[in-house]
Amino acid sequence: MRVLYLGDIVGEKTIDVLKDHLEDIKRRYKINMVLANAENTTGGKGLSEKDYKKLKTLGIAGMSMGNHTFSKSEIKDYIDDATIARPANYTTNIGKEVLYVRYNDEVIAIVNLLGRTFVNGPLDCPFKKMDELLKTIKADKIIVDFHGEATSEKKAFVYDFKGRVDAVLGSHTHVQTADEENIDGTLYITDMGMCGPKESIIGDDIDSIIDRFRSGIFGRLAVANSKNYMINGVVLDFNTKKIERVNEVYSV
Ligand SMILES: [Fe+2]
Ligand SMILES: [Fe+2]
Repeated sequence: MRVLYLGDIVGEKTIDVLKDHLEDIKRRYKINMVLANAENTTGGKGLSEKDYKKLKTLGIAGMSMGNHTFSKSEIKDYIDDATIARPANYTTNIGKEVLYVRYNDEVIAIVNLLGRTFVNGPLDCPFKKMDELLKTIKADKIIVDFHGEATSEKKAFVYDFKGRVDAVLGSHTHVQTADEENIDGTLYITDMGMCGPKESIIGDDIDSIIDRFRSGIFGRLAVANSKNYMINGVVLDFNTKKIERVNEVYSV
């Protein structure tokens, strides 16, 4: 089975880019199932129900989130019935700690965790949470989206859980790393990158971010308008046990 996992989807225009190109990517990479991190889809923060439904229409079977899970408060009304894994170590009862999706006879468990280094929030330890979840998860494959800022925390996680889960995929920094590998049976990358505007600062408008750094004043942020969109992610091949980076750029 070959799974395409897309990095953080940033902004509504990216949905249109995926609409135009996802089928071609699936064909070229021989993909059986598409999963995605969707935490930045709506206006760069969160996921509205309307955009969730659009991503489902594109054939994205399961989604994970991150620190922006609840940025659009309407998610509280639909997340329980949605194919969305919320950060399992987030101290709330809303949403699923483990999302199960099916491909033919195989059951795939998707777990989303939030790192605690340079990330704020009401969070339990992601390592101890994973220990706990492993006692109850019943699945043929376990994929973890570890949403964190610190590379060291993600790397520590994969070395702790190598061989016990099938993939540990980093998200949140929006910059794809070049360290994909199979670590004792666990497919790993520190960050999958993002799907969003290329001429941007991790998805946001360039001038307002420069202004933010120069002035120290945190004004409102907007998703960048860009001529080019990048589609970043990874392909997980569970038969050959290989992970491959995807980095496509499209003009709009
Ligand atoms: Fe993100
Ligand atoms: Fe994030």
